[in-house]
Amino acid sequence: MYYDPTLNNHGLPYNPFKSCVVPRPIGWISTLSADGVHNLAPYSQFQNLTFDPPYVMFSANQNTRGQRKDTVVNIERTGEFVYNMATFDLRDAVNRSAAEVPPEVDEFDLAGVTKAPSVLVKPCRVAESPVQFECRYHQTLRLPGNGIMGTVDVIIGLVVLVHIKDDAIGSDGRLNVLRIRPLARLGYFDYTTVESSFEMVIPGGNKDLLRGLEGVAGS
Ligand SMILES: Cc1cc2nc3c(=O)[nH]c(=O)nc-3n(C[C@H](O)[C@H](O)[C@H](O)COP(=O)(O)O)c2cc1C
Repeated sequence: MYYDPTLNNHGLPYNPFKSCVVPRPIGWISTLSADGVHNLAPYSQFQNLTFDPPYVMFSANQNTRGQRKDTVVNIERTGEFVYNMATFDLRDAVNRSAAEVPPEVDEFDLAGVTKAPSVLVKPCRVAESPVQFECRYHQTLRLPGNGIMGTVDVIIGLVVLVHIKDDAIGSDGRLNVLRIRPLARLGYFDYTTVESSFEMVIPGGNKDLLRGLEGVAGS
């Protein structure tokens, strides 16, 4: 089958679109408002863009009242945010932090997670999360959309400091992803976690290409 996303003539009981690009990592984004209120919210339209220097991005639709989400407002005003990795163990806290609440609500308290001070930026890190990036705001790309929530603010940030918990690193010196169990979105109300991994190397022996894939370009 195929369908036109402007008509959504797929004939299915639920829109399949968000299940067609999966699994999506969840950027659990913490910010501080201009008034000093701590904000925390999950964004599954999240990715790293490159690694040297590292940039990340996420896209925030408008809220149910057609306004910029608090995360976006805070980042554009203060120029800073933190990415916290969402994990299976933290799933309920991630979910609680997605509630649409007024900007004066401390969403670390709402989620029931602990604030860890950052080193270079003012927004706090989620202490329970195994990986956090301190980020400086680079740019917003605002894409027009339909309906109250359709317009989207794509936020790009430069990663200026990377935190990794010691127990998230295995004896081989690599992130132990199977122990961390990162949480990911599958569309609908469905989620998944990383339960298995396998290795593949691009054939042909192009060392620069392999270094790029491994993330060591520029060294
Ligand atoms: C797992 C998960 C992923 C989400 N991903 C997005 C997303 O990519 N973009 C978005 O606009 N909202 C997303 N949401 C909804 C926001 O988290 C929600 O609107 C939240 O209230 C925004 O908070 P803020 O106004 O404090 O930024 C997601 C919610 C959940 C539970």
